[in-house]
Amino acid sequence: MLQTDSIESLREHVAIWRAAGARIGFVPTMGNLHAGHVQLIEVARTHCERVVASIFVNPLQFGPNEDFTRYPRTPEADCAALESAGADLVFMPSVATMYPQPLEQLTRVSVPQLGDILEGAHRPGHFDGVTTVVARLFNLVQPDVAVFGEKDWQQLAIIRRMVDDLGWPIDIVGVPTVRDADGLALSSRNAYLTAAQRAMAPSLARTLNEVAGHLRVGERDFAALERAATLVLAEDGLRADYVSIRRPDLREPHLGDAQLIILAAAWLGSTRLIDNLPVSLG
Ligand code: PAF
Repeated sequence: MLQTDSIESLREHVAIWRAAGARIGFVPTMGNLHAGHVQLIEVARTHCERVVASIFVNPLQFGPNEDFTRYPRTPEADCAALESAGADLVFMPSVATMYPQPLEQLTRVSVPQLGDILEGAHRPGHFDGVTTVVARLFNLVQPDVAVFGEKDWQQLAIIRRMVDDLGWPIDIVGVPTVRDADGLALSSRNAYLTAAQRAMAPSLARTLNEVAGHLRVGERDFAALERAATLVLAEDGLRADYVSIRRPDLREPHLGDAQLIILAAAWLGSTRLIDNLPVSLG
């Protein structure tokens, strides 16, 4: 597997592969990879002959009081994981390479409305940081296919909208969330949990499953279900930022909808966990 921090070398390799007729798959990451990321690479492999991954802890998507400086950085282990998952090249740019301008002068990409609800309401500016970095990475790699985890459902919806709105010829592929045996969605931020908090964390996925159970038996008072779930989380020691039942495209749900998604974000001590659960209603 090739490793580079240079845009020129990234472009050179991608151009050679493309000239040889290969389709290029791309998996952007912030590193500290787990089995969920490995699956993204494997899925990219099934679509494309060549797979590029990136590792870049993107300062633009962290708020001033968030965990940018303590976000786990594990480049050696990440490269080993990417190589055994089948990546051909990992791009690991510095901040100066990614953002040649001072951050306050940088051109930004923004998806309004969809980027302002749920996560966006609790993390102002977060999705502008995500779309700005992903747009730049897409322009540098020029992939045919890009693969993202469904755990960040709203991020995936926003990236699909950006690609649609800007007319980029990139297929965006979502991959279902990978979970530990007790249901906790894999996340780099799980590393922040103490042993006691790790034991409490499955409450988030369990609560989403309980809400799904209520929906499946026909309950449709969405606001009451969201309030009840927030209380259950509080009893289990988690402070919810939101529990929200939506349509898969994140619009408000209607009574007759056959597909819904339950999304939640909750604090466990100083660690913020997010999760979601798509529900099909016969
Ligand atoms: O999902 C992530 O890890 C990040 O938001 C992404 C897409 C790599 C952009 O920094």
